[in-house]
Amino acid sequence: MLRKSLFSVSAIRNFQLLNQRWVASFSTQFTPDIDSSKITVERTKKPKPKSPKEKLVFGKEFSDHMLEIDWERNKGWTAPRIIPYQDLQISPASSALHYGLQCFEGMKAYIDNDNKIRMFRPDSNMQRLNSSMNRLDLPEFNGGEFLKCIQQLLREDKDWIPKGMGYSLYIRPTAIATQPSLGVGPSNHAKLYVICSPVGPYYPEGFKPVKLLADPHHVRAWPGGTGNYKVGGNYAPTIQVQRAAAKRGYNQIMWLFGPDHHVTEVGTMNQFFFWKRRDGKKELITPPLDGTILPGVTRSAILDLTRSWKEFEVSERAFTIHEVIEAINENRLLESFGAGTAAIVSPVEGFEFGNKYYKVPLDMSDSAKQAGPLTARLADTIMGIQYGKIPHPWSVVVEEKPKK
Ligand SMILES: Cc1ncc(COP(=O)(O)O)c(C=O)c1O
Repeated sequence: MLRKSLFSVSAIRNFQLLNQRWVASFSTQFTPDIDSSKITVERTKKPKPKSPKEKLVFGKEFSDHMLEIDWERNKGWTAPRIIPYQDLQISPASSALHYGLQCFEGMKAYIDNDNKIRMFRPDSNMQRLNSSMNRLDLPEFNGGEFLKCIQQLLREDKDWIPKGMGYSLYIRPTAIATQPSLGVGPSNHAKLYVICSPVGPYYPEGFKPVKLLADPHHVRAWPGGTGNYKVGGNYAPTIQVQRAAAKRGYNQIMWLFGPDHHVTEVGTMNQFFFWKRRDGKKELITPPLDGTILPGVTRSAILDLTRSWKEFEVSERAFTIHEVIEAINENRLLESFGAGTAAIVSPVEGFEFGNKYYKVPLDMSDSAKQAGPLTARLADTIMGIQYGKIPHPWSVVVEEKPKK
């Protein structure tokens, strides 16, 4: 009996699998991590013309260089390379293209009044990218070293960072599985690359509040899913829903979840409501990080800042759209906004739910204003920090020469 089970086909197969996993983890454990001191730079021979900054359109134009770092399970991370911006060459069988093994980040670089490059809480983006990579079984990396490589790319392309409040260089770190085989499984090959795109202010002519469609039929994320990771697979299914909403005159989707219609996120931003509770206390509220919400860098900054002000309650707590509607009906809703790197804050002027449109106040004391006082104050404060006008440890100066 014992002999039979020991040598059964499945026992041998299990032993082989265990052995393979052990060898895989052993071989990756001692492979090299990203090493910024090994970076090589190949400068473009054909610098591209730049559009006037007033004409910039988000994500259409790219700086002269990009950063690339390849990974192989048995070799680890290879030397980082800054190269002229160019098309990628990857196998058409790459698992990024077939199974969505892809994740990314969105961050910005700013030029301050002393002509220095600044970044906003870049360590948070490094952490989030590592956590997305881990979720996709892609290799993790030393965030500090990867950030140093990105900073070298920023030095190379400094003249691509448009100057002035609201202008910045959008940075898109991306990870793709480049395993050249169609098997659905962990990738033995990956590529980390970074491209940069100059962008103008989200609101060139002052705030433009958005109208939302809250349609419970479409769900962005669910418990046990990937809503808290920045993986491409979260975004593809939202495009068609977003386009259908736009045809009906709505700018964004307010994503709800569950039979009680819990509020989760708005478009690709975290959602906040500022209201008076029934006990008369003012409260800024946003859904908790329960696995369905992307842990936004802007969200975290807003929570930290408003908590430090100690002027009203700040809550990360689950709430439903019905509670929001009650607050509107009882004149208790003061403001609502989305929060994210692109806009910082985006005021909400109303939403449709259940075939009814609900108006959200912008500024209760001044009907001409396009954003409420809290929304405007947060935009000013965070922007002040980003451009180094308000000294704050969140704003990281990129030194002109890399530190040894
Ligand atoms: C789904 C989603 N939620 C929230 C955010 C806001 O995150 P952050 O403030 O880090 O830009 C983003 C943008 O990255 C997003 O894609």
